[in-house]
Amino acid sequence: MKGVVLAGGLGSRLYPLTKITNKHLLPVFDKPMIYYPIQCLVNAGITDILIVTGGNYAGHFLQLLRNGSDFGLRRLGYAYQEGEGGIADALKLAEEFADGESIAVVLGDNIIEGNIKKAVDDFEQQGKGAKILLKEVHDPERFGVATVDGDGKVLRIVEKPKEPETNLAVIGIYMYDAEVFEICRDLKPSDRGELEITDVNNEYVRRGTLTSEVLKGWWTDAGTFESLYRSASLVREGGANRMDV
Ligand code: DAU
Repeated sequence: MKGVVLAGGLGSRLYPLTKITNKHLLPVFDKPMIYYPIQCLVNAGITDILIVTGGNYAGHFLQLLRNGSDFGLRRLGYAYQEGEGGIADALKLAEEFADGESIAVVLGDNIIEGNIKKAVDDFEQQGKGAKILLKEVHDPERFGVATVDGDGKVLRIVEKPKEPETNLAVIGIYMYDAEVFEICRDLKPSDRGELEITDVNNEYVRRGTLTSEVLKGWWTDAGTFESLYRSASLVREGGANRMDV
């Protein structure tokens, strides 16, 4: 399986920090933010990775990561997203890279304690469709929120609901078959003007090919001042990407 790290967007929630570099290059304790999603993929055995970025500081990624040999990558590619049309808009740029294979997608501001290798292996067994990872949170209104039935089957996902039906957040790690690109092509922008990854996942729900697992260990995003601070504390206290989930 190939890996995609989505690191576009303008990071405006972190102004003025992001006026002088890309959000995903800001420090999370002792490493740049982007190191964590890359290591997450590497720990799952994925060494063929595309980074999608954008904005004025895209060149900083090349200076930092070069050809990815510090991570033992077989191939590190870069794609440039114009504007910030949403997560699914950024994902579209990975179609040629994926070349018909399945992909594991990690949002560039998501950090986890564990190792997703088992989920990746499970998805390879699954063979088609998509898999998402869920985590109970106390502030679900900040995220995509999943409603599941008694067997854990996802019935629907709502993006940032004002009144969440559950406290199960959809974390920013997704596995897709090659149909994802056809689904992305048919998306319409949401009220906030973005192509939403939640709409992609709901299309897999509709097709009956979405599976989910609940993540063990902590998970955080790092895209706000509060979550950036929390992520640094979590990494400092226990390290990231370090246990099986
Ligand atoms: O963190 C998990 C959450 O991420 C999910 O629960 C939500 O369903 C999903 O929509 C997303 O929510 P956010 O509002 O937190 O996403 P945000 O706009 O902060 O973007 C997250 C990452 O996605 C960002 O660090 C880089 C990438 N991205 C985002 C946009 C808008 C892009 O590559 N391009 C983009 O245009």
